[in-house]
Amino acid sequence: MLPKHSLRILISEQEIQACIKRLALEISEQYRDCPLTLLGVMTGSLFFLTDLMRQLTIPHQVGVIQASSYPGNATTPEKLRVNLDYLPDLTGRSVLLIDDILDTGQTLDFLKKEISSRCHNEIQTAVLLWKKSRTVKDVTPDYLGFEIEDEFVVGYGLDYADDYRHLSAIHVPDFSVKKLP
Ligand code: IMP
Ligand code: MG
Repeated sequence: MLPKHSLRILISEQEIQACIKRLALEISEQYRDCPLTLLGVMTGSLFFLTDLMRQLTIPHQVGVIQASSYPGNATTPEKLRVNLDYLPDLTGRSVLLIDDILDTGQTLDFLKKEISSRCHNEIQTAVLLWKKSRTVKDVTPDYLGFEIEDEFVVGYGLDYADDYRHLSAIHVPDFSVKKLP
């Protein structure tokens, strides 16, 4: 079935995978002597989380958090909804929050505060993409893949109305051209 919108590649699969190798090296070096837990912000970080895990050269644990601020076909953030019910035990562990994209910063700002209030650990963040010009909260990624312009992107876990997550590259959809289903 054809995609519903025409899509332009912004970051290729090869560029993403090379970047993840670089980030994994940095993270493996940084956390060499720490008990590391990766916390993936679902659903967008699905691929970034699993590709990063496979490139890390140090032992680590993993957990997930469900967070959403783009219900349905929204392309600007709305009220943040978070589910922390499935947090693993973080006692004595170093936490690295993994997200697909840092946009306004409301998700990572909230999660950093909420999780550090529960486990009193220092929390770092790794994001694949950063729309720096849109970030209004006081949060900067500790590990960053690519800084991008203020454009809505899909693919590699990122969705529009739950479509396009499966794509291996990052794309910019053209919302002015809607193809027939
Ligand atoms: P923030 O809380 O505004 O920083 O937004 C973070 C979340 O919004 C990300 O984890 C994504 O799930 C979603 N998001 C932000 N920008 C985009 C985009 O361009 N495409 C798809 N999802 C996005
Ligand atoms: Mg997300």
